[in-house]
Amino acid sequence: MNNGEVLQFPPDFLWGTATSPTQVEGHIENEWTHFTAQDGGHCRIACDHYHRYPEDIGWMSKLGVNAYRFGIEWSRLQSAPFAPLNQNELARYVDLLDRLKARGITPMVVLHHFSNPPWINAAGGWTNAAAIPAFVDFVRQLVATLKDRVSLWNTFNEPDTYACLAHVLGGFPPQQKWQIGKFRRVIGHMARAHAQASRVIRREGIFDGRKPEVGIAKNWTFFHAYKPYSPWDRAMAFACHYTFNKFVLDAFLGGWRRRASTFIGLNYYGRVRFHHFQAMIPASGAPVKTLKDFGFVCDDMVERYPEGLVKILSYLNRKFKLPVYITEHGAASDDEQFRARDLQENLAALHHAMSDGVDVRGFFYWSLLDNFEWQFGYTKKFGLLAVDFSDDKLPRTMKPLAEVYAKICRNNIIRKQGR
Ligand code: FCB
Repeated sequence: MNNGEVLQFPPDFLWGTATSPTQVEGHIENEWTHFTAQDGGHCRIACDHYHRYPEDIGWMSKLGVNAYRFGIEWSRLQSAPFAPLNQNELARYVDLLDRLKARGITPMVVLHHFSNPPWINAAGGWTNAAAIPAFVDFVRQLVATLKDRVSLWNTFNEPDTYACLAHVLGGFPPQQKWQIGKFRRVIGHMARAHAQASRVIRREGIFDGRKPEVGIAKNWTFFHAYKPYSPWDRAMAFACHYTFNKFVLDAFLGGWRRRASTFIGLNYYGRVRFHHFQAMIPASGAPVKTLKDFGFVCDDMVERYPEGLVKILSYLNRKFKLPVYITEHGAASDDEQFRARDLQENLAALHHAMSDGVDVRGFFYWSLLDNFEWQFGYTKKFGLLAVDFSDDKLPRTMKPLAEVYAKICRNNIIRKQGR
C-alpha cells in the first residue's frame, strides 16, 4: 500500500451526514414515544433537533458538507389515513429545506425510517396491506408540496432491519419474536409501497424539467462463519444472508422491480461472524475480551470489514447497474482515532470500487449528532458532534472526527494510509 497517496473524488460528489426523525427530533408521537431503551433512555426529547435544526444546519456548514439525509416524520403530518397534511408541521420541514438550500446543502429525504403514525400501528403496522395505499397517499401529498425543493427521495430506510427487529428479534416495537411470516409480509408490503410511491414521485415530482431520483436504503451486512468448516455456523450465516440480504434485495429490486428505483442506497457498517451459534458482535452482547482474543476489529456494534464494501459495491453494480449512494456509514466508539481510521479505510474501499467503475454519487456519514440509538438508547455514540444529554440545553460540540471529516468534505480527497 502506497502511504499518503491522494485519492480524488468526482467534483460533484455529495458529502453528507444523516439523521432520522425519531433519533434526533424529539416531541414525536409514534411507537417509540413510550419505548424504554436498554439504558433506560427514551426519545421524547432526543437531541431536540425539532427546535434546534437551524443551529444544527449551522454545524453542517462548519463541517463543510454539501448534503444532508434526513427523514420527514409521517406521524407529524397525517392524523388519519388520507387526511390532509398538517400545514404547520409541513411549514417547519419547508423552512428546514430552505435553510439547507441557503447553505448550499442538497437534501435527501427519507420517507420511512423505523416509525409509523399511531393509526398505522394500531391496524397492525406493515403486516397489514392497508399501509400501502395510506403511505402512497402521504407521499403523493408530500411530493406535491416539496417537488421544487427535493429531488432525492429515499422511500424506505433498511426495511430488512425494521422487519427483522420488529417481528423476528424483538428489539423494536411491537417487539415480536420469530414471526418469520410477518417479516416476509412486511417486506412484501413495503416493496409494493416502494414501487407505487416511486411511480408517484417520478410522475408527479418533476420540477422545472429536473427528474427526481428514487431508491431505498438497503442495509448490507456480511454474514460469515468464523470457522469456514463449521457446518452449523455456516448454515446460520447462510440463513441470515438468505433472509436479510437476498430475499429483501429480490423483493425490492429483483426482475421488473428494478425499474422502481433510479438508485440504490447502501447502508454499510460491516460484518457478523458466527461461532458456536453466537453472533460475534458487541451489539449481540459478545464479550469485548473474547472479540479481542479472536482478533476481531469492532466498533461498539459490529465487526469492521472495509474490504467488504468493495465486494458489495461491485456485486450491486454487476447485478443492477444502478447508481449508488452510500446512505449510511459510521462507527460508534469513544475512541476517535479508531473512528478516524475506520472512516479512512472505508472511504479508501469506496474509492477503490469507484475506480473499478462503480457509479457512486455520494456518501452520508451516520450520524451528524450523538442520538437515540433505538433499543440501545444513548450508549452508542455515532455522532460527528457530541451532545451533552446531561445538560438541559443539549449543547453540541465538534468531536475530533468532525475535523477529519470536514477536511475530507472541503478537499474532496482522502489520503490512503497503511495500518
Ligand atoms: C442503521 C439505521 C440508523 C442507525 C444506524 C446506526 O441501521 O438506519 O437509524 O441506527 O444503523
